[in-house]
Amino acid sequence: VDRYGVMGNPIAHSKSPRIHAAFAEQTGQALTYEAILVPLGGFQDALESFAAEGGRGLNITVPFKQEAWEAVDSRSPRAERARAVNTIVLGGEGRRYGDNTDGVGLVRDLTVNHGAAVAGRRLLLLGAGGAARGVLGPLLEEKPAALVIANRTARRAEELAADHSDLGPVSGGGFDVLAEEECFDLVINATAASLQGQVPPLPGRCLAPGAWCYDLMYAAEPTAFLTWAAAHGAERVIDGLGMLVEQAAESFALWRGVRPDTAPVIRMLRGG
Ligand code: ATR
Repeated sequence: VDRYGVMGNPIAHSKSPRIHAAFAEQTGQALTYEAILVPLGGFQDALESFAAEGGRGLNITVPFKQEAWEAVDSRSPRAERARAVNTIVLGGEGRRYGDNTDGVGLVRDLTVNHGAAVAGRRLLLLGAGGAARGVLGPLLEEKPAALVIANRTARRAEELAADHSDLGPVSGGGFDVLAEEECFDLVINATAASLQGQVPPLPGRCLAPGAWCYDLMYAAEPTAFLTWAAAHGAERVIDGLGMLVEQAAESFALWRGVRPDTAPVIRMLRGG
């Protein structure tokens, strides 16, 4: 039976094993998928062992996506751009191909599952770390009218924007740039602030009438950012559970050549 897994630290609460088990059952694919706790500094060893034991593919999560990018020998264009890998295909003769399905997962959840318009809209991306970097290219490919990156550390946002300026109208800076900006139709939180129950310092009027807000994080309760968004008039607030399932479906399709139906899996996870 073909063996897959997800490597991260922490990993105990990962929903990926449940998601991939559901995909395998739905598509009739014989495979196993396990959560693998990797010690900090131990990624390379863990990858070697998994490959040597005949493993066929891996998902990579926090904090190893950048190390995974370095550890593969070829990459998809979107992984190349993101400088982070969340999906590895282990081929014959030790070949390792790296992809990044996070951005396409977000875009599919927004546009297919929720019917959001991205083309022609004004987007605000909060954060300039690994999570923001993973989704920026695919967001720009949807042709927004403008995409502003705002981050606590202004320089990181400026650099991220500069790295993607060939893909569309993107600019970046500290949260203070928002004081001068127009309002936004779609605000996407890719900061780690939600983990600490905090909200980035946003002006309340940065939401356009009818604005939607999306948090890459998900939790049993609405995140601090989504609570803020609802209180400031957002028309829709969406957490990152759908993105999690969509990025998994893209990985599954890459490994198995068949794309599972995500809707029943999202429903299953929402139900408990
Ligand atoms: P990840 O892989 O989750 O993106 P990261 O690369 O460490 O993790 O990036 C974390 C992001 O969350 C950064 O944009 C960080 O801002 P800085 O670049 O200024 O560090 C942001 N962040 C973390 N805690 C935050 C907080 N309490 N308020 C606002 N932004 C925060």
